[in-house]
Amino acid sequence: MNIPKTSIHGEWSSRLAFILAATGSAVGLGNIWKFPYITGEYGGGAFVIVYLLCIALIGFPVMMAEVLLGKRGRSSPINSMRHLAQEARRSQWWQVLGWSGVVAGFLILSFYSVIAGWALDYIPRLAQGTFTAVNDLNTTKEVTDFVATRFGELVGDPLRLIMWHTLFLVITIIMVAGGVQGGLERAVRWMMPALFLVLLILLGYAMSTPQFMEGVQFMFNVDFHKLFYPKGEFSGEGVLAAMGLAFFSLSLGMGSIMVYGAYLPKHASIAQTTAAVVAADTLVAILAGLIIFPIVFSNGLSPEDGGPGLVFKILPIAFGQMPYGTLFGTLFFVLLALAAWSSAISLIEPAVAWLVETGKFSRISATIGCGIAAWLVGFATVFSFNIWSDVKPLSMFSAFQDKTFFNLIDYLTSNIMLPLGGLFIAIFVAWLMKNQIVTEELEISSKNLGYRFWRFLLRYVTPLGVGLVFLNAIGVFS
Ligand code: PHE
Repeated sequence: MNIPKTSIHGEWSSRLAFILAATGSAVGLGNIWKFPYITGEYGGGAFVIVYLLCIALIGFPVMMAEVLLGKRGRSSPINSMRHLAQEARRSQWWQVLGWSGVVAGFLILSFYSVIAGWALDYIPRLAQGTFTAVNDLNTTKEVTDFVATRFGELVGDPLRLIMWHTLFLVITIIMVAGGVQGGLERAVRWMMPALFLVLLILLGYAMSTPQFMEGVQFMFNVDFHKLFYPKGEFSGEGVLAAMGLAFFSLSLGMGSIMVYGAYLPKHASIAQTTAAVVAADTLVAILAGLIIFPIVFSNGLSPEDGGPGLVFKILPIAFGQMPYGTLFGTLFFVLLALAAWSSAISLIEPAVAWLVETGKFSRISATIGCGIAAWLVGFATVFSFNIWSDVKPLSMFSAFQDKTFFNLIDYLTSNIMLPLGGLFIAIFVAWLMKNQIVTEELEISSKNLGYRFWRFLLRYVTPLGVGLVFLNAIGVFS
């Protein structure tokens, strides 16, 4: 058995660098774009509670396990799983975990890049002060129509979407080709604090609206009826969506965190670093919600109706009205794009690392190849918002009746592939790896209470949780 001692792709310069990179991967469109609109769709409060439970009881332990697999395997997820399966004398089929991650990564990147393109499009718009025009309008209806029309102009124009999608991926390729330490570490170092700062400024604005408490209520007032009966009929969809979002937001279940773990210096505490990443990610999502919903309510809108455009139709109203809104608005979308980049690079890193390890590709050609593949798949998402908006490929199944290509790719990855990946990670680490190897990597005694609790969560809670949520979603309990 020959597990490499160090990764051939380089290493993070410190534990802090890993935290920054993993936080860079976790914090992204998932927190700021997806969390608010999905929370809105499923009625707020109860959804948020289920989301937080999934983060704490499943996401956190699985993230530790995924980092551990990478740190032990020292390679791309495909090869790490190959080495570790050998080491544990288990089937070579465990490599499939790596492969499914690579596929999920492409699929996610394909739409991620299109949505990040929306953020790019909003940078020059904000900089030109387009949205200050809302101050000359008389009614909130006129205001909301104005921003919705601006959004419609963008998503209704495939060429414009393709242009931004292309630009986003080209820059992603350049960053990834530069390798682990070069571009990546340096960018996240200042980006995350800056993003946080702008979010706090926006929170200040949201607090100044009379509807702030209404927004808080919406997010924290637990009403399970809304979660289980979103359209009047019982459905387990909401719980599945909350779990899927937890995996998506933490970048779990597809190898991003595993491959970042492979670049971790030998002696770094997995538990502490993971805790920092999970805390930062959750905080940003909650902040985004506390910002968006008060503004939704103060403009007489309802959170359910926003859909994927929610953030793009709501925040410009705030930027149009607040002092220095042009400056902060521009800065916000720049930072959102940067946060998306630091996630996008982690989406193709597993595939790139594997291609490089085959020995047949340079890092540059591997990255370009992967980028082009994601670019091509991305067209399905681009067209989902315009010329194919009526194409519902799986309309013969009632559950997928009104899902476009974009909806389907998002559903398949977030709600199915990532939780399944997480489930198998949990099973492998907690049931199949030798206890001694696990404690050695964690640098902890097997008698430690925290360790035992973690293992319990992985052994029982994760498999049961994921299993029950799946069964519930396909209607077994209804
Ligand atoms: N976590 C990222 C976000 O919230 C998305 C992502 C998912 C990144 C899976 C890598 C892997 O935006």
